[in-house]
Amino acid sequence: MIVGVPKEIKNNENRVALTPAGTAEMVKNGHEVYVQALAGMGSGFTDEDYMFAGAKLLPTIEEVYAVAEMIIKVKEPIEPEYKLIRKGQILYTYFHFASSETLTQAMIEREAVCLAYETVELDDRSLPLLIPMSEVAGRMSVQEGAKYLEKTYGGYGVLLGGVPGVTPAKALIIGGGIVGTEAAKMAAGLGADVTIMDVSLKRLRYLDDIMPANVKTMMSNEFNIREMVQSHILIIGAVLIPGTKAPKLITRDMLPTMRPGTVMVDVAVDQGGCFETTTPTTHDNPNFVIDDVIHYCVANMPGAVPRTSTLALTNATLPNAIELANKGWKLACKENGPLRKGLNVVEGKVVYKGVSDAFDLPYVAVDSVL
Ligand SMILES: NC(=O)c1ccc[n+]([C@@H]2O[C@H](COP(=O)([O-])OP(=O)(O)OC[C@H]3O[C@@H](n4cnc5c(N)ncnc54)[C@H](O)[C@@H]3O)[C@@H](O)[C@H]2O)c1
Repeated sequence: MIVGVPKEIKNNENRVALTPAGTAEMVKNGHEVYVQALAGMGSGFTDEDYMFAGAKLLPTIEEVYAVAEMIIKVKEPIEPEYKLIRKGQILYTYFHFASSETLTQAMIEREAVCLAYETVELDDRSLPLLIPMSEVAGRMSVQEGAKYLEKTYGGYGVLLGGVPGVTPAKALIIGGGIVGTEAAKMAAGLGADVTIMDVSLKRLRYLDDIMPANVKTMMSNEFNIREMVQSHILIIGAVLIPGTKAPKLITRDMLPTMRPGTVMVDVAVDQGGCFETTTPTTHDNPNFVIDDVIHYCVANMPGAVPRTSTLALTNATLPNAIELANKGWKLACKENGPLRKGLNVVEGKVVYKGVSDAFDLPYVAVDSVL
């Protein structure tokens, strides 16, 4: 199959969908890989790296779309790309269709085969192509939080781990899923006194078993949160209720009870945020202060570390990409149930229920297009 890797053109997107290592795997499987010049630059991969791995370079995005049977991307196509997409062309990328009717209509009109990373789903209902980004954001939340706790950034002026003779700082992590677990591991590794909260007792039991001694677990409820925010200097919001907005667990009236210089990182900002005072921010201007409490609410945290994020994402996306290239999308999706769930829009038909529901579009069962 002819595989195309365009350079991402969405604002501030520095990731790339295929690494030189992934390119070499594709080529080894007998496929041709066309990479747009400079596609890997933002993630630290040069054109020479791709050529060495067996890719052919093309100077423009138009040429990549024109030649490829399958386009592998990171973000959803944006308006200038719509007209480049051909009938029957496979697009394997993050789409988040339910948040954009314009994108959905454009893909229906282009009659492409749209496989969305975010809806590929394993039998245990986990989302293997979203997990890597949660891992990155979870680990990063502590790194960012620790930075803003420094006095020069307006923070309380404490080192998370303390030093011999000085007690460590207290970190509160609300939500013990992927983000929360990775955040807890990082904070614990730095020596902080960590408490992780969740509403699932089963999850808390598991975390209690695997976490080091400086991580405690606690049931998440309003009473406990109200008490804990008064003594915890770094607070990380990491909750998710699938398919709905995040609940507002830290309310405005709790802020004056916190110490001035407390840092709150709302990783759940992309689901509306779990702090009442959350407003989405960007890497250009990541934080703001309310009632002397520093808020960090960047909606695409992995964007700050594109090399790590690219490697993490492509580790997860490559096996499916190779299967799609080896078998073609129909056979690959027939044989691979989790991958089949990634099909959202196929040759003009909406085959994912959530997308048809979001915009009241006719729904076609996925099996009927295979
Ligand atoms: N900002 C970013 O760049 C970025 C990147 C990746 C993920 N995220 C977001 O981070 C959030 C967490 O993602 P995840 O992958 O860890 O999800 P997850 O499903 O693995 O974990 C969510 C956890 O929240 C718990 N929870 C639900 N309600 C709760 C409550 N009231 N109190 C405490 N815990 C509660 C659940 O039991 C679950 O354990 C999501 O909103 C996700 O979209 C943001």
